[in-house]
Amino acid sequence: KKIVAIILAAGTGKRMESNIPKQYLVLQDKPILYYSLKTFEESNVDEIILVVGNGEIEYCREEIVDKFKFKKVRKILEGGSERYHSVFKGLNVINYADYILIHDGARPFISLETINRTIEEVGTYNACVVGVPSKDTVKIVNEEGIVMETPNRDKVWAVQTPQAFSYEIIKRAYEMLFKNNQENLKITDDAMVVEYTLNFPVKLVMGDYTNIKITTPDDLIIGQSILSRMW
Ligand code: CTP
Ligand code: MG
Repeated sequence: KKIVAIILAAGTGKRMESNIPKQYLVLQDKPILYYSLKTFEESNVDEIILVVGNGEIEYCREEIVDKFKFKKVRKILEGGSERYHSVFKGLNVINYADYILIHDGARPFISLETINRTIEEVGTYNACVVGVPSKDTVKIVNEEGIVMETPNRDKVWAVQTPQAFSYEIIKRAYEMLFKNNQENLKITDDAMVVEYTLNFPVKLVMGDYTNIKITTPDDLIIGQSILSRMW
Protein backbone atom coordinates (compact mmCIF):
# COMPACT_ATOMS: atom_id res chain seq x y z
CA LYS A 1 0.00 0.00 0.00
CA LYS A 2 1.30 3.43 -0.88
CA ILE A 3 1.10 6.01 1.93
CA VAL A 4 1.63 9.69 1.11
CA ALA A 5 1.89 12.49 3.68
CA ILE A 6 0.97 16.07 2.89
CA ILE A 7 2.79 18.42 5.27
CA LEU A 8 1.30 21.90 5.41
CA ALA A 9 3.54 24.89 5.84
CA ALA A 10 1.85 27.56 3.74
CA GLY A 11 0.38 29.66 6.54
CA THR A 12 1.62 33.12 7.45
CA GLY A 13 1.20 32.70 11.21
CA LYS A 14 -0.78 35.86 11.99
CA ARG A 15 -1.44 34.88 15.60
CA MET A 16 2.29 34.40 16.21
CA GLU A 17 2.93 38.05 15.29
CA SER A 18 6.49 37.29 14.25
CA ASN A 19 8.29 38.78 11.22
CA ILE A 20 8.82 35.35 9.62
CA PRO A 21 6.22 32.54 9.30
CA LYS A 22 6.20 30.54 12.54
CA GLN A 23 7.19 27.24 10.87
CA TYR A 24 10.65 28.72 10.19
CA LEU A 25 11.24 30.03 13.72
CA VAL A 26 14.11 28.19 15.37
CA LEU A 27 13.72 25.85 18.36
CA GLN A 28 16.91 24.18 19.60
CA ASP A 29 18.92 25.18 16.49
CA LYS A 30 16.43 23.86 13.94
CA PRO A 31 13.43 25.42 12.21
CA ILE A 32 10.09 24.21 13.61
CA LEU A 33 9.24 22.58 10.27
CA TYR A 34 12.35 20.37 10.52
CA TYR A 35 10.96 18.32 13.41
CA SER A 36 7.78 16.98 11.81
CA LEU A 37 9.60 16.31 8.52
CA LYS A 38 12.23 14.33 10.41
CA THR A 39 9.65 12.17 12.20
CA PHE A 40 7.64 11.54 9.01
CA GLU A 41 10.91 10.68 7.20
CA GLU A 42 11.51 7.96 9.81
CA SER A 43 7.92 6.69 9.74
CA ASN A 44 6.19 4.10 7.55
CA VAL A 45 5.09 6.84 5.13
CA ASP A 46 6.40 6.30 1.58
CA GLU A 47 6.41 9.86 0.23
CA ILE A 48 6.04 13.39 1.53
CA ILE A 49 4.47 16.32 -0.32
CA LEU A 50 5.48 19.64 1.24
CA VAL A 51 3.16 22.63 0.78
CA VAL A 52 4.79 26.01 1.49
CA GLY A 53 4.00 29.71 1.18
CA ASN A 54 4.43 31.89 -1.90
CA GLY A 55 8.09 32.34 -2.76
CA GLU A 56 9.27 29.85 -0.13
CA ILE A 57 9.95 26.80 -2.34
CA GLU A 58 13.62 27.49 -2.89
CA TYR A 59 14.28 28.34 0.75
CA CYS A 60 12.59 25.13 1.92
CA ARG A 61 14.37 22.98 -0.63
CA GLU A 62 17.83 24.32 0.15
CA GLU A 63 17.68 25.14 3.84
CA ILE A 64 15.50 22.30 5.06
CA VAL A 65 14.93 19.38 2.64
CA ASP A 66 18.41 19.21 1.05
CA LYS A 67 20.31 20.36 4.12
CA PHE A 68 18.82 17.66 6.35
CA LYS A 69 18.66 15.07 3.53
CA PHE A 70 14.95 14.34 3.70
CA LYS A 71 14.74 11.75 0.95
CA LYS A 72 11.02 11.08 1.13
CA VAL A 73 10.08 14.65 0.11
CA ARG A 74 9.01 14.20 -3.53
CA LYS A 75 7.39 17.56 -4.26
CA ILE A 76 7.45 21.06 -2.83
CA LEU A 77 4.66 23.33 -3.99
CA GLU A 78 2.98 26.60 -3.07
CA GLY A 79 -0.23 26.52 -1.05
CA GLY A 80 -3.33 28.70 -1.17
CA SER A 81 -5.06 31.40 0.84
CA GLU A 82 -6.70 29.11 3.42
CA ARG A 83 -5.55 25.80 4.88
CA TYR A 84 -8.11 23.81 2.89
CA HIS A 85 -6.87 25.42 -0.36
CA SER A 86 -3.35 24.27 0.50
CA VAL A 87 -4.63 20.75 1.17
CA PHE A 88 -6.49 20.65 -2.15
CA LYS A 89 -3.39 21.76 -4.04
CA GLY A 90 -1.41 19.02 -2.31
CA LEU A 91 -4.01 16.39 -3.18
CA ASN A 92 -3.96 17.49 -6.81
CA VAL A 93 -0.23 16.82 -7.35
CA ILE A 94 -0.47 13.22 -6.17
CA ASN A 95 -0.51 10.75 -9.05
CA TYR A 96 -1.23 7.65 -7.06
CA ALA A 97 -1.73 6.78 -3.41
CA ASP A 98 -3.74 4.34 -1.31
CA TYR A 99 -3.78 6.42 1.87
CA ILE A 100 -3.08 10.07 2.64
CA LEU A 101 -1.95 11.58 5.93
CA ILE A 102 -2.41 15.33 6.27
CA HIS A 103 -0.25 17.03 8.92
CA ASP A 104 0.27 20.59 10.13
CA GLY A 105 3.91 21.64 9.77
CA ALA A 106 3.20 23.75 12.86
CA ARG A 107 2.91 20.54 14.96
CA PRO A 108 6.59 19.63 15.39
CA PHE A 109 6.20 17.19 18.30
CA ILE A 110 4.23 14.47 16.57
CA SER A 111 5.57 11.09 17.66
CA LEU A 112 6.70 8.26 15.41
CA GLU A 113 4.39 5.86 17.26
CA THR A 114 1.36 8.04 16.60
CA ILE A 115 2.12 8.36 12.88
CA ASN A 116 2.56 4.62 12.49
CA ARG A 117 -0.54 3.85 14.56
CA THR A 118 -2.55 6.24 12.37
CA ILE A 119 -1.35 4.39 9.28
CA GLU A 120 -2.53 1.10 10.78
CA GLU A 121 -5.92 2.52 11.77
CA VAL A 122 -6.65 4.12 8.41
CA GLY A 123 -6.29 0.67 6.84
CA THR A 124 -9.32 -0.37 8.90
CA TYR A 125 -11.45 2.78 9.05
CA ASN A 126 -10.51 4.75 5.89
CA ALA A 127 -10.91 8.03 7.77
CA CYS A 128 -9.28 8.77 11.10
CA VAL A 129 -7.95 11.71 13.06
CA VAL A 130 -5.50 11.93 15.91
CA GLY A 131 -6.85 13.59 19.03
CA VAL A 132 -6.90 13.56 22.80
CA PRO A 133 -9.77 13.56 25.32
CA SER A 134 -10.46 17.15 26.36
CA LYS A 135 -8.98 17.97 29.77
CA ASP A 136 -11.15 21.08 29.99
CA THR A 137 -14.91 21.20 30.14
CA VAL A 138 -16.17 22.68 26.88
CA LYS A 139 -19.13 25.08 26.51
CA ILE A 140 -21.18 25.85 23.41
CA VAL A 141 -22.11 29.55 23.51
CA ASN A 142 -24.26 31.95 21.50
CA GLU A 143 -23.17 35.28 19.94
CA GLU A 144 -23.44 37.07 23.29
CA GLY A 145 -21.21 34.51 24.99
CA ILE A 146 -24.10 33.00 26.91
CA VAL A 147 -23.74 29.25 27.48
CA MET A 148 -26.20 27.23 25.44
CA GLU A 149 -24.95 23.76 26.19
CA THR A 150 -22.32 21.83 28.13
CA PRO A 151 -21.45 18.61 26.33
CA ASN A 152 -20.54 15.64 28.51
CA ARG A 153 -16.77 15.90 28.79
CA ASP A 154 -16.34 12.16 28.32
CA LYS A 155 -17.52 12.67 24.75
CA VAL A 156 -15.34 15.69 23.91
CA TRP A 157 -12.02 15.29 22.12
CA ALA A 158 -9.55 17.90 20.97
CA VAL A 159 -8.39 16.93 17.51
CA GLN A 160 -4.92 17.32 16.10
CA THR A 161 -3.10 16.06 13.05
CA PRO A 162 -2.23 13.82 11.30
CA GLN A 163 -5.64 13.17 9.81
CA ALA A 164 -5.62 10.14 7.52
CA PHE A 165 -7.94 8.96 4.76
CA SER A 166 -8.14 6.60 1.89
CA TYR A 167 -6.99 8.69 -1.08
CA GLU A 168 -10.16 8.05 -3.02
CA ILE A 169 -12.38 9.33 -0.17
CA ILE A 170 -10.45 12.49 0.66
CA LYS A 171 -10.02 13.42 -3.01
CA ARG A 172 -13.73 12.97 -3.68
CA ALA A 173 -14.68 14.94 -0.57
CA TYR A 174 -12.46 17.91 -1.43
CA GLU A 175 -13.65 17.90 -5.05
CA MET A 176 -17.24 18.04 -3.82
CA LEU A 177 -16.39 20.84 -1.40
CA PHE A 178 -15.01 23.04 -4.16
CA LYS A 179 -17.62 22.08 -6.73
CA ASN A 180 -20.60 22.70 -4.45
CA ASN A 181 -19.12 25.93 -3.18
CA GLN A 182 -19.43 24.77 0.41
CA GLU A 183 -16.48 27.01 1.19
CA ASN A 184 -18.53 29.25 3.44
CA LEU A 185 -18.54 26.37 5.93
CA LYS A 186 -15.67 27.41 8.17
CA ILE A 187 -13.37 24.52 7.38
CA THR A 188 -10.85 24.02 10.18
CA ASP A 189 -9.82 20.42 9.67
CA ASP A 190 -9.92 17.70 7.03
CA ALA A 191 -12.29 15.37 8.83
CA MET A 192 -14.96 18.10 8.57
CA VAL A 193 -14.73 17.87 4.80
CA VAL A 194 -15.53 14.16 4.68
CA GLU A 195 -18.14 14.54 7.42
CA TYR A 196 -20.03 17.26 5.54
CA THR A 197 -19.66 16.19 1.93
CA LEU A 198 -19.89 12.40 2.26
CA ASN A 199 -21.26 11.95 5.77
CA PHE A 200 -18.44 9.42 6.17
CA PRO A 201 -17.70 8.09 9.70
CA VAL A 202 -14.41 9.32 11.13
CA LYS A 203 -12.52 7.35 13.79
CA LEU A 204 -10.56 9.06 16.57
CA VAL A 205 -7.03 7.77 17.18
CA MET A 206 -5.49 8.40 20.61
CA GLY A 207 -2.64 10.90 20.35
CA ASP A 208 -0.42 12.71 22.81
CA TYR A 209 -1.01 15.91 24.78
CA THR A 210 2.45 17.03 23.67
CA ASN A 211 1.39 17.16 19.98
CA ILE A 212 0.54 20.86 20.28
CA LYS A 213 0.19 23.28 17.39
CA ILE A 214 2.58 26.20 17.63
CA THR A 215 0.10 29.06 17.29
CA THR A 216 0.87 31.95 19.67
CA PRO A 217 4.11 33.13 21.33
CA ASP A 218 3.25 31.20 24.53
CA ASP A 219 3.44 27.97 22.56
CA LEU A 220 7.15 28.58 21.89
CA ILE A 221 7.84 28.46 25.63
CA ILE A 222 5.83 25.25 26.04
CA GLY A 223 7.48 23.88 22.89
CA GLN A 224 10.96 24.45 24.31
CA SER A 225 10.24 22.25 27.28
CA ILE A 226 8.52 19.54 25.21
CA LEU A 227 11.57 19.47 22.94
CA SER A 228 14.05 19.24 25.77
CA ARG A 229 12.22 16.10 26.93
CA MET A 230 11.75 14.51 23.49
CA TRP A 231 14.95 15.22 21.52
N1 CTP B 1 -1.62 26.40 6.48
C1 CTP B 1 -1.43 26.23 5.11
N2 CTP B 1 -2.01 27.10 4.23
C2 CTP B 1 -2.76 28.13 4.66
C3 CTP B 1 -2.99 28.29 6.06
C4 CTP B 1 -2.40 27.40 6.95
O1 CTP B 1 -0.71 25.31 4.71
N3 CTP B 1 -3.29 28.96 3.78
C5 CTP B 1 -0.97 25.48 7.43
C6 CTP B 1 -0.05 26.20 8.42
O2 CTP B 1 1.22 26.43 7.84
C7 CTP B 1 -0.04 25.27 9.61
C8 CTP B 1 -1.39 24.56 9.53
O3 CTP B 1 -1.93 24.83 8.24
O4 CTP B 1 0.98 24.30 9.54
C9 CTP B 1 -2.33 24.99 10.63
O5 CTP B 1 -2.68 26.35 10.45
P1 CTP B 1 -2.52 27.52 11.52
O6 CTP B 1 -2.01 27.02 12.81
O7 CTP B 1 -3.78 28.32 11.48
O8 CTP B 1 -1.31 28.37 10.87
P2 CTP B 1 -1.36 29.80 10.21
O9 CTP B 1 -2.55 29.92 9.32
O10 CTP B 1 -0.01 30.04 9.61
O11 CTP B 1 -1.52 30.76 11.49
P3 CTP B 1 -2.63 31.92 11.71
O12 CTP B 1 -3.97 31.24 11.57
O13 CTP B 1 -2.35 32.42 13.10
O14 CTP B 1 -2.38 32.94 10.64
MG1 MG C 1 -4.56 29.75 10.14
